[in-house]
Order: sequence, then structure tokens, then C-alpha cells
Amino acid sequence: MSLDTVRLDRRTLLAGAATAAATLPLVARATSVPPGLNALATEKGMRIGSAFAWSPPGADAGSFANPAYAALLQRDCGLLVPENQLKWQATRPAPDRFDFTHVDAMLGWAEAHRMAMRGHTLLWHKTEYFPRWLVGYDFGATAASAAERLLTTHIETVCKRYAGRIHSYDVVNETVDEKTGELRETSLSRAFGGTVPMLDHAFHAARAAAPQAQLVYNDYMSWEPGNAAHRDGVLRLLEGFRKRGVPVDALGVQSHIEPAGDAPAGLLAARQEKPWRAFLDAVTGMGYDLLITEFDVADQHLPTDITLRDRQVADYAGAYLDVMFSYPQLRDLLFWGMCDRYSWLKGFKPRKDGSTPRVAPYDSGFRPKPLRDTVAAKLIGAATRR
Ligand code: XIL
Repeated sequence: MSLDTVRLDRRTLLAGAATAAATLPLVARATSVPPGLNALATEKGMRIGSAFAWSPPGADAGSFANPAYAALLQRDCGLLVPENQLKWQATRPAPDRFDFTHVDAMLGWAEAHRMAMRGHTLLWHKTEYFPRWLVGYDFGATAASAAERLLTTHIETVCKRYAGRIHSYDVVNETVDEKTGELRETSLSRAFGGTVPMLDHAFHAARAAAPQAQLVYNDYMSWEPGNAAHRDGVLRLLEGFRKRGVPVDALGVQSHIEPAGDAPAGLLAARQEKPWRAFLDAVTGMGYDLLITEFDVADQHLPTDITLRDRQVADYAGAYLDVMFSYPQLRDLLFWGMCDRYSWLKGFKPRKDGSTPRVAPYDSGFRPKPLRDTVAAKLIGAATRR
């Protein structure tokens, strides 16, 4: 190693290990600073990313405006996704009004730091996540055309605003009922004249408005027992898209995975792997690409002891990623947040012992955990994507 490299490296180390790992992965690797996850992924033709938020400067939030959180994004990510800010609830305060202030700021930050940003989501087809005005919306005498206009306007407004800047959209999110495998119905789909024509229309409208973008169907069917009906429903939906020539490029596998107990990860994985591979084989067999869009590991059923819990989270994630990374159609992995401190699971799946869920690659003090090491190891072991 040349003297210059050593000097440069010391300087960047003083400026912060996070920046060093993000901007100088090769130099960093020659020393003891571990390379960023996205640097490891890049070598395999893959990308690592995360959800992030908007907040005022300095707020204690999982936001680009929080320097401690921004440092994690810069260290490990090449790809970002707004956690909530691009949803209808945030961008569409009224049927005839849009607000993109936060998304604009987020995308501006991502671009300034040379990161791509995905769009989540053009239609979260679940009543509880509709903006309030849409839940009992009166579509009037010509309901079908009013519903079509409302949806088309939404998709066109978002896609055209970010043309050439957002290259991948979760066009439709979570339209399959997890219990029955049937498609959900909402005020919007009823007015439209059915869920299937509405979903088809959403993808066609997205293709027309963003011809270069990757169009994704995103859902939380998973590999755990109890997911069979959900998986079957998603398969039927994807088959239907293909039969009808609907432009869908990929399945977003959210990957909010959850060990059912503290049995060894290998044992849990062995039980779950077969039906899960059959599902992924069927999806990829139809020509769909795969993405991990919202990765985290719920720890509700794991022990209180932190060392033990972190190990089990990491091992369970490792077994899952062994399967996922074996599919060359999978290039992108996005965490649903980089650190426990801001994870949605604190509220959504609180622990009985009252302790903070440890579900993300960094803990609440921004320290890396075994989960991060495991993802790094799996990236190093992954086959290169062409
Ligand atoms: C979640 C956010 O993380 C929360 O902050 C919000 O209150 C609800 O939505 N599947 C999805 C994401 O597609 O949009 C959800 O995000 C998590 C589950």
C-alpha cells in the first residue's frame, strides 16, 4: 500500500468511518474498516438499499436529515425508498390536490449522494391505508370512469414528475388477502368495476407514463408456515397478468420474515424451504424478476438475551438469504430501515418483555449487529449477476 493511500485513509478515517466505507471501499478494505454492504453487492451486480424518511433537520428520525441515520445510508446503501412519503396518504391530501414536498427533498438528497430511489407505491390496495377521503368517496353517477380518472391521474402525476429519476415502482402493493388468497375489494375497485381490471389498468398506466421503469407487484407472502393461501393467491395474480399481457416486470418480496420460535435457524429453514422454492420457481418460471423490498426480521418470539437474540436473527436471515440469493433474478435487497431505533416493528410487533425489537442491521445506538455481518457474508458468497 502506498504512503498516499495510507495518508488518505487516515484522513478519511478521521472524517468518519462511515464515509470512508461508502466512498473508498477498496482503500477501506485494505485496512480494518469493513466495506459498505452496497460496495460488496456492487461486485456481484447487486444493490443494497433501505427505507428512509423525511424529517426536519436534526430530528431523531430515520431520515436523511438526521446525520447519524444518513451516515448508515451512505455507508451501506446504493438504493433508497421512501418509507411513507410517496403513499397516497402523504402525496394526495385531497382528490384534486398533490403534495410532493417531502418526496422532492428525499429524491434530491438521494441523487446528491449518488443513490437511486424506488417509488413505493402507486396503489396500496388496502382500505386501511387509503387516505381518509377515499374510503367512502362518492364517485358519482359515472363511477367507473371517475375511478379510472382518479387512478390514472395519480399514476401519471407521480411517474411524469419523476420521469428519468425513479426507475422502479411498486405499482401495486398488497392486493391479495393473506387468509383467503382472494383479491381485496375497496371503494376504488368497486367503483372501477372490479379489482382485476383496476390492477391491469394501473400497470398499463404506469408503463405508458414511465416506459423505462421497472414495474413491480409487491406483497408480503413469505416462507413461514401459514402463508400457503397467500402465496397461491399471488401466483394466480401473476399468472393472470401474464395471460392478459399486463406489463409487470418483477415480484417484490417484502421479506418481513419472522422466526416462529428459537429453534435453530437451519431447522426452521429446512421446514420452510421446499414450498418457498416451489413458489419462487413458479414466479421466475413465468419470467418475473425478484426483489427483496422490505427486509427485516421480527424478533417477537425470540429470547430476551441480546447476544442470543441477535445471533438467532442473523442465522435465520442467513438461511433465508441463502435461498433468495440462489436466484440470479434477484439483484436488489432493501432493508425496511437500517436501525432498530426507528423500526416500524417497535409499534407493529412490540415485544412482550418490553425491550426494543432488534430487527435491523444496526441497533438503537447505530452500532452494527450480527445481522449486518451475515448479510455481508452472504453477499461475498453470492454468485455474480450478469
Ligand atoms: C409501514 C411503515 O413502515 C409505517 O411507518 C406505516 O405506519 C405503515 O406502513 N408493508 C408495506 C409498507 O408495504 O409500506 C409498510 O410500511 C410495512 C408493510
